[in-house]
Amino acid sequence: MAMEQPIRLGVVGLGLIWQAVHMPNLLALRDRFQVTHVCDLSASLAKSTASDLPGAVTSSTDWRSVCDDPDLDAILFLTPGDHAPQVLRALQAGKHVLVEKPLCVTVREARDLERAAAAANRVLQVAYMKMYDPIIEQARESLASVGARRIVRVTVLNPADAPQFDHVALRRPADVDPAAIEADSAYALERSGEALGDAPLALRQLYWGALLGSVCHELSLLRALGIGLPERFEAARAWPFRLDGSATEPPCLHGVADLGDGSELQLSWAWLPDYPDYTEEVAVFGTQGRLRLEMPGPYLPAHRASLHLEGVSNGIRASTTYRAGHTTGFVRELEAFAASATEGAPVLSTAAGAAADLACLQQFVAALAAGSGIAVKTEVVA
Ligand SMILES: NC(=O)c1ccc[n+]([C@@H]2O[C@H](COP(=O)([O-])OP(=O)(O)OC[C@H]3O[C@@H](n4cnc5c(N)ncnc54)[C@H](O)[C@@H]3O)[C@@H](O)[C@H]2O)c1
Repeated sequence: MAMEQPIRLGVVGLGLIWQAVHMPNLLALRDRFQVTHVCDLSASLAKSTASDLPGAVTSSTDWRSVCDDPDLDAILFLTPGDHAPQVLRALQAGKHVLVEKPLCVTVREARDLERAAAAANRVLQVAYMKMYDPIIEQARESLASVGARRIVRVTVLNPADAPQFDHVALRRPADVDPAAIEADSAYALERSGEALGDAPLALRQLYWGALLGSVCHELSLLRALGIGLPERFEAARAWPFRLDGSATEPPCLHGVADLGDGSELQLSWAWLPDYPDYTEEVAVFGTQGRLRLEMPGPYLPAHRASLHLEGVSNGIRASTTYRAGHTTGFVRELEAFAASATEGAPVLSTAAGAAADLACLQQFVAALAAGSGIAVKTEVVA
């Protein structure tokens, strides 16, 4: 199926990630996309966004009307809640779907959505932009040079959102009913109960919060590098964290897991809200060499990934540094979405991959709970 015209795109959720990243990127890719319908719970934001965009753009406040719009080829979902109901309806209405992470809350839903996309013969792509970063192919190829892997160390220093986007003139409208946002969030937490067998609230908050909201990116990156995911965690810690509490801020997290190939995963994710520099490093230490991958923060177009390799050649130590070009993972994920929708190119960030991430994150929660003598029945085990 070839589309000669730009893909007619609907967008649902016009907050931070839209204003900071997707809107400027879609305008730059106007040969491939034409945004023709925008939707937000805020009527004023939807209207002003529609009038700011080129061409005739419909605005609405109910995502269902976007799914039902017969003049759309595809929908980009950028809302903060559980995306499963939106994605399912969009696929059933015959739309291609690009959806921000997390795709959904349960493994079962992710698999159902994968099947729904296949049944509808439509593209379902999860917006795991790190998988599309231009450095990834080089990093994946370079992994062989470290020899047998022994340690895979992932470290994320995660600031709160606000200090990371002080360069964006963010529009936050006042005409959104907070009850609607709270209802979406409560629904997602309730779904977390299904994923974690009614684990204590603090664990469900952690799962829906830091794990599905951020750590899922790190797992997608490990998959993109060909390192894969562990089946379980030997140990997991969270601090400061109370199992009997209800957190207002995410804790710091650390997990240790056997990757099954003679190497150990050491995954650290630290919530450091006030210092603005997001930092992510994947370090792979092998018998013959070392690889370090530094990934850019999410909202900075000029910040590029870099890759550092160290090895020994004929007894001489050598180190090489690669830097990604100026095209970001966010731009490349849009280009890939267009190629899948118009030319049938295979999807890299699939719902099946998201299902694997969810299963792995549930294992992290189970290991954390086990450390306090609590058994969590994850849906994978159930
Ligand atoms: N890939 C990344 O690095 C990255 C970074 C930030 C956010 N995200 C993801 O993007 C999504 C949005 O995050 P954000 O930071 O832009 O959130 P946000 O709160 O800034 O904006 C969300 C917007 O969606 C609207 N909205 C909420 N529920 C809605 C509904 N049911 N129907 C229509 N509109 C609705 C809100 O009014 C708001 O304008 C989340 O899924 C988040 O995980 C991804």
